[in-house]
Amino acid sequence: MGKTMGRLLRVLAWLSPFWQFRAAVHRRCGVKIGKGVFMGYLVQIDSEHPELVEIGNWVSIGPNVQIMAHSGTSPYHRTTGVYSNPPKKVTIEDGAWIASGAIILPGVRIGKGAIVAAGAVVSRDVPAWTMVAGNPARVVQKLERQPRVDSGTS
Ligand SMILES: CC(C)(COP(=O)(O)OP(=O)(O)OC[C@H]1O[C@@H](n2cnc3c(N)ncnc32)[C@H](O)[C@@H]1OP(=O)(O)O)[C@@H](O)C(=O)NCCC(=O)NCCS
Repeated sequence: MGKTMGRLLRVLAWLSPFWQFRAAVHRRCGVKIGKGVFMGYLVQIDSEHPELVEIGNWVSIGPNVQIMAHSGTSPYHRTTGVYSNPPKKVTIEDGAWIASGAIILPGVRIGKGAIVAAGAVVSRDVPAWTMVAGNPARVVQKLERQPRVDSGTS
């Protein structure tokens, strides 16, 4: 896919009125996305390395979430070699919920069924079935799985 097409597709992925379509367009941009994924408005997923972002089944991603797989330094840093950081894979496991405005940083794995609270900045892995919040995100709650709300995603 050409760069211009990629840019146009990303705008569609941010703003399309249907969540299924937004997820489908992110997928078309190269993000690995499972089934039943709710995709909020204005979700930004690494535009340089979309293939490094993997989202499992039944994940829910709120509006304004940012998922980053690389730390693109400034040209100054590149020419001086003062700082560099290779791109790293981001994984969001089945059934996780990333609430609005959270930022997921390169290299992070969000465990199965985890909840990332609104506005959290996630710099370290999140264990399955925990809720994290804050900047940097820390575990604020352990989640108990209730059989009643089992959606058959185990
Ligand atoms: C994650 C969330 C659901 C937790 O709600 P809750 O179960 O009522 O949790 P509580 O408010 O009891 O919070 C538990 C602790 O985490 C903290 N906390 C909860 N959400 C937080 C947040 N977004 N940022 C920082 N701390 C947060 C609370 O201050 C509390 O800490 P304390 O025990 O020291 O007081 C809620 O805070 C949230 O982020 N909702 C998302 C809303 C949203 O994005 N909606 C769009 C739909 S995609």
